[in-house]
Amino acid sequence: MALERIQGLHDFAGRYNVPLSDHHGAAHGGLAMNRKALELLLTRRSVLANNLGPPGPDGEALAVILKAAARVPDHKKLIPWRFIVFAGAARTRFGKLLAAIAHLEEAEPMTAGRLETEARRFERAPVIVGVVSKAAARPGVPEWEQILSAGAACQNLVLAANASGFASQWITEWYAYSPGVHAALGLGASERMAGFIYIGTPTEAPTERDRPDLGTIVEHWRPGPPANGDPAGRSET
Ligand SMILES: Cc1cc2nc3c(=O)[nH]c(=O)nc-3n(C[C@H](O)[C@H](O)[C@H](O)COP(=O)(O)O)c2cc1C
Repeated sequence: MALERIQGLHDFAGRYNVPLSDHHGAAHGGLAMNRKALELLLTRRSVLANNLGPPGPDGEALAVILKAAARVPDHKKLIPWRFIVFAGAARTRFGKLLAAIAHLEEAEPMTAGRLETEARRFERAPVIVGVVSKAAARPGVPEWEQILSAGAACQNLVLAANASGFASQWITEWYAYSPGVHAALGLGASERMAGFIYIGTPTEAPTERDRPDLGTIVEHWRPGPPANGDPAGRSET
């Protein structure tokens, strides 16, 4: 899609001083500006799993997406994440497991409709990648940082899927937190699901949604007199 045709983009660019004119090849901080990459970041939109159909990435395209996912900031190179791919018939088999686990874990008896929903859950998209956070007590790297790295891997999956011509959605739903599902997937005691990234082709274009006004979430720190003995400076929006 041409940058110029993205609705609202010029308003956005004007308000936040994002350069959209043809800077192709221009150097910013020593690197050539990549308009396509910026366009992807500024227009990314999830597509609901229910609206993802075939085709999904084939083996080669998926390998590229997974490589991008593994190229995230990672303090002390701990590789605190791993990936589980669900594709083809494995999705149906896993869905049957999900239905059985939901039946066992839920207090209320499940309706036939709900069982069917669970059994078909992983058939919503052609490819699903589960991201396992392996955060654990490690010297010098707080667990929090390892969890953040797993989140970054999820986001890189989403972006790389989009850059490869697919749509995606990062989902957790109930099964990311289910002990039965953790056991079925062979998660270790300190492992958790950071999410499941559904990847496919949109059956319906997503509508835009409101994004936060930068004025409400960004402040520029300025040095100031310490307040109540707090050595931190004051900040202004
Ligand atoms: C950790 C995490 C878990 C999420 N889990 C769900 C979920 O279970 N179901 C859902 O509809 N959206 C979930 N989302 C939100 C979607 O990924 C997505 O952000 C949302 O549909 C809004 O679309 P957008 O990405 O275009 O803003 C989750 C997001 C994150 C970061």
